[in-house]
Amino acid sequence: MTIETSNMSSHEPDLAEDEKRANSETIHPTLSPALALLAPILSNSSTTFASYSSQIYFQKDQTLRAPEITPNLAKIESSARSRLPKEAYNYAAGGAGLESTVKANREAFNHWRILPKMLHSVLPERNLSRKIFGRYIPAPIASLSNAESDVLAVMAPIGVQTLFHPTGERAMAKVFGEMGLPYTLSTASSTGFKDVATANGDGNPRWYQLYWPTVDGLTQSYLKSARENGYEVLVVTVDTWELAWRPRDLETGYFPFIQSIGTQIGLEDKYAHSQLGFDPLAEGATLEQRKLASLYHVVTTSRGVSPRWENLKKLRDWWGDGPIVLKGIQSPEDALLAVKFGMDGIIVSNHGGRQVDGAVGSLTCLPPIVDAVKGKLTIGFDGGIRCGADIFKALALGADFVQLGRPMLWGLAHDGEKGARHVLKSLLADFDLTVGLSGHQDLSTVDRTAVVCPP
Ligand code: GLV
Repeated sequence: MTIETSNMSSHEPDLAEDEKRANSETIHPTLSPALALLAPILSNSSTTFASYSSQIYFQKDQTLRAPEITPNLAKIESSARSRLPKEAYNYAAGGAGLESTVKANREAFNHWRILPKMLHSVLPERNLSRKIFGRYIPAPIASLSNAESDVLAVMAPIGVQTLFHPTGERAMAKVFGEMGLPYTLSTASSTGFKDVATANGDGNPRWYQLYWPTVDGLTQSYLKSARENGYEVLVVTVDTWELAWRPRDLETGYFPFIQSIGTQIGLEDKYAHSQLGFDPLAEGATLEQRKLASLYHVVTTSRGVSPRWENLKKLRDWWGDGPIVLKGIQSPEDALLAVKFGMDGIIVSNHGGRQVDGAVGSLTCLPPIVDAVKGKLTIGFDGGIRCGADIFKALALGADFVQLGRPMLWGLAHDGEKGARHVLKSLLADFDLTVGLSGHQDLSTVDRTAVVCPP
């Protein structure tokens, strides 16, 4: 449809204060006020995260087609479950022991409730940006395809993604790149540094997660590859130097890495080749060699030898000035040690309940850690986020950013890149709407006064 334009300035004297402000900030200046208000909807060009919901309603109105993928993330998980081999679903869905920590992660969110505030002059284009490790986006979120978007949500470093869809890490990295949100590549990736970087796109924020090898030469080599391929932030997982007791996987003896799935970083590594005496990906390499190389990768990264605080200095020397973040911190004491040992950030996480069964829910750990180190470290949060309100609660309790994990995998398993994109857009739309409807124009007021913990 063609939209006629007229000069809006002749109407200005009649506008009330708020309307004037809204128009000056959100409406195209050459359209009549009425058409200008409708323009983003009619042209489907509204670019806030929240507009994903109006796009769905208007698409139904115009095409009579309901959305291709349900917005109900629990249904997307059910669909993933029905599509995936049982072992693959269980590997991702499961946790350590009785899975009480997986449950505690979700329960912790129910203890906190949002306290909405009304009549606070909220506009559609909310500023959800944050400065994280030097990436700063001063403008409100304006475009979903703007590579310089904010970084409040980060892809959790999930490995072996080709288990869930053949496009695996490539699809996921592409979707995060499109949104300008950081993609974190896992050391247990089934796709290598370069291929993920290419899929993610030039200039997009990429982070690298290290399972810290017990062989220094290997660690240095992984870090070098990460830097050469544009990974800017080093995330060191400190809670998974050995796999926990995981009955779902043990029941079927399922361990994908033995089948050379999730070992691509090791298979491609030149230092590993020098130690093995062969390149397992070279033409003519045997399956046996590939398997040996995969086992070498696994054994060097999860050998049951815990990393030590004192050794962080080595990582700093090898990584240089770039940000280093410790993932898997649960206690204020460890958070303070992270400050002492010169870290730039921590991620409050219990590995999605996959490591210590019986551990406290991750969100419960957040406030005391924030009280101990806020302002000294950038604080990420991971563990149990399933909706926009969860993101809101974690930020209100002091996290600077959150990580999205299992829901993204279920989207990928449901429909590859399309499914992952849909889940990410749904979570961000839900979050954006929650921020606005709770009375906030930006994140500066999303603090502890925005949530309550009923007795
Ligand atoms: C690896 O990170 C796992 O949790 O299986």
